[in-house]
Amino acid sequence: MISNKPILFISALILIIYSQAQAKPRGVTFDVVQLGAKPDGKTDSSKAFMDAWKAACGSVVSASIYVPPGRFLVNGLFFGDRCENKNNVLFRIDGVLVAPEDFQVTGTAANWIEFREVDGVTISGGILDGQGIGLWDCKLAGESCPPGATTLGFTASKNIRIKGLTSLNSQMFHIVVNGCENVKMDGLEVSAPGNSPNTDGIHVQFSSGVRISNTKISTGDDCISIGAGSTNLWIENVACGPGHGISIGSLGKELNESGVENVTVKTVTFSDTQNGARIKTWGRPSSGFVKNILFQHIIMNNVQNPLVIDQNYCPSKKGCPGQISGVKISDVTYQDIHGTSATDVAVKFDCSKTEPCEGIKLEKVELTYRSRPAEASCTNAAGTESGIVVPSSCL
Ligand SMILES: *[C@@H]1O[C@H](CO)[C@@H](O)[C@H](O)[C@H]1NC(C)=O
Ligand SMILES: *[C@@H]1O[C@H](CO)[C@@H](O)[C@H](O)[C@H]1NC(C)=O
Repeated sequence: MISNKPILFISALILIIYSQAQAKPRGVTFDVVQLGAKPDGKTDSSKAFMDAWKAACGSVVSASIYVPPGRFLVNGLFFGDRCENKNNVLFRIDGVLVAPEDFQVTGTAANWIEFREVDGVTISGGILDGQGIGLWDCKLAGESCPPGATTLGFTASKNIRIKGLTSLNSQMFHIVVNGCENVKMDGLEVSAPGNSPNTDGIHVQFSSGVRISNTKISTGDDCISIGAGSTNLWIENVACGPGHGISIGSLGKELNESGVENVTVKTVTFSDTQNGARIKTWGRPSSGFVKNILFQHIIMNNVQNPLVIDQNYCPSKKGCPGQISGVKISDVTYQDIHGTSATDVAVKFDCSKTEPCEGIKLEKVELTYRSRPAEASCTNAAGTESGIVVPSSCL
């Protein structure tokens, strides 16, 4: 018998060389500690981070910013805007970036860490600790508090990669992608308590070519929320819960609004969430629309509203009573959806009277409530079903 050991050895060697080439940044590296950051969790390191960004952007070769292990207090706003460097800028983070404990410091800013008008930024690894607890307590106590900052925001940017990043306890949303093109997020973890207010996991709007994969989100609001102007969005292999589910919307608050088109949500598990797959629009006139949506291979574990379209959203009954949603919803497919509902109505399609839902397809859907078939309720919704569909649809 011929030993295959040498082959194994050589492949292992190639693998090591290859993975080192992947992990080791090319070009020049700026270490935030060498630029004055202190890994003690209490010395403000904002300036060192900004200096590292400026140095990386000023470099003519590709540049990396390295954050070693330790806790780094970033007691102000990090703002990375237009970068002169035409190569990719890589943030390799082994440590934790800690937001100020006093929510007044960043609470009125849109983002704690923001990148704007950048092309080719990669963030690899690391933990962002938003320290949102103080602000949530303020909000939950009904006091007057600032809205809170998003932990990480990308605005008007393209060719962004975020991998292996953890976001903890954001004041408001964890990650927002706004006005961007080609953004890939892989292997993220988002974590905040189920009762933390407005702590959406990842919010996408006015963006195209965004991909979220292999990600675990536990939070107090939507795990992923998809706003107006989101197109060609791909979500795959995500675990959500606790949280409010994956939501397209709220849409249609504005009269003139961009639509949502071509969204795939596949291989997702929802556990103990308020919603599973949700589409939500305000009961107000609007030019918005939602079309070509696929929800596929989804497991529901004790979800309150597994499949829901709600076109009568009108919080506090302000500015919408008696009005009808103008958002047209069409071609939404639910395929291979299984599991348990925490309420008797597992499928609820409550569509607009003037713009009824069209082309709703249910295929191989099996949802139970207390070990019995759950119920379905449809208003102004038309479509087809095929394969086993339980509850039998009301389309
Ligand atoms: C839909 O979006 C995916 C990426 O999520 C893209 O690959 C595909 O080409 C898009 N389809 C159309 C018709 O634009
Ligand atoms: C509607 O919004 C789009 C994009 O925000 C804008 O370009 C357009 O001019 C607006 N149209 C009207 C009628 O306001």
